[in-house]
Amino acid sequence: MITETHVPLQAHNSFGIVARAERLLRLRSQDDVQAWLNSPERSEPHFVLGGGSNIVLTGDVKPLVIKVELMGKHLVSEDDKAWVVQAAAGENWHDFVAWTLAQGWPGLENLAMIPGSVGASPVQNIGAYGVELQDRFESLDAVDLQTGQTFTLHAGQCAFGYRDSVFKHAATDNRDLGLLGRALITQVRFRLPKKWQFDVSYLDLSKKQAQHGVAHPTPQQVFDWVCEIRTAKLPNPETLGSAGSFFKNPTVSAEQCADIIAREPKVVHYHLADGRIKLAAGWLIDACGWRGKSVGNAAVYEKQALVIVNKGGRDNPCTGGEVMTLAKAIQTSVYERFGIRLEPEPVVV
Ligand code: EPU
Repeated sequence: MITETHVPLQAHNSFGIVARAERLLRLRSQDDVQAWLNSPERSEPHFVLGGGSNIVLTGDVKPLVIKVELMGKHLVSEDDKAWVVQAAAGENWHDFVAWTLAQGWPGLENLAMIPGSVGASPVQNIGAYGVELQDRFESLDAVDLQTGQTFTLHAGQCAFGYRDSVFKHAATDNRDLGLLGRALITQVRFRLPKKWQFDVSYLDLSKKQAQHGVAHPTPQQVFDWVCEIRTAKLPNPETLGSAGSFFKNPTVSAEQCADIIAREPKVVHYHLADGRIKLAAGWLIDACGWRGKSVGNAAVYEKQALVIVNKGGRDNPCTGGEVMTLAKAIQTSVYERFGIRLEPEPVVV
């Protein structure tokens, strides 16, 4: 277990923002985790860094940065209904999805190409093209940073919601169990049902199916289509830094939605099972004319207004301050026009 000092973080955040970790600790094995738990550093303020794909760095990070680099993936069990597959928190999410498919264990293909690490996936309850992590989640192992104890959580204990989980809430949030800043996820297990069904609930995917004229696509075809859709719509993190969608899609009551539709008949919206309605934040931002607008080198992506990108690249990157100034201006204009408060997705550090 080695603590490094003044570590550049530009390569460790998908925006490519320049900042340093005053101290950074890499956890590469269970022994590293144990050594850290037994050290005095355990009780220090810390920030857990996964793939860095959902953060905005607004300056050097003073708390100890814990970089989770635990690796390994394997089949845990198999019965006639499903495969249960485990991956360590430091594994790259997309590589893990591709690997499961190559092994003949489909189920995660709709979640292809989401940047980030396996360990961060339950925190966000990542989702795309009609599937959320919680639909394939079995359980996870984590260490309690207060007690040093290892524990396991099953789906029901994770309080999954839309881009939400128990890991995003403090214990004071009126929840039975809030684990914000308290849990370090080490392993995640997925249940991949053998009865595979193509999920066509998402329009972009059903369009691809029609385009290709394939009645019964294979999981590999769905994987390829998801990759094609994402490549066309979302910036490639290798060449254009971003944190994916910058805001959550807001949920409103049927009355609020009817009121907005009366004024803006084209507003993109989806009916939820509980009677509420989800609005496409990208559409709201687009309607306010934000595509392509910028503050310094932080810009609204030309092809998807829900994404803020670093148009200065690695050499002349945007700052976290520019990203947040742009984000606040977007929030204000959407609020003034639609009366809706957009909630940012990434964690501001
Ligand atoms: N739209 C516009 N203008 C825009 C952007 C979007 O009119 O500039 C419209 C689109 O035409 C479409 C609707 O808004 O009718 C929704 O857009 P899209 O299908 O691109 O999906 P999204 O709601 O913007 C969400 C997730 C994405 C996920 C896609 C596909 C959130 C916050 N974002 O985006 O997740 O990939 O659906 O399932 O829920 C992420 O979280 O980082 C992410 C990329």
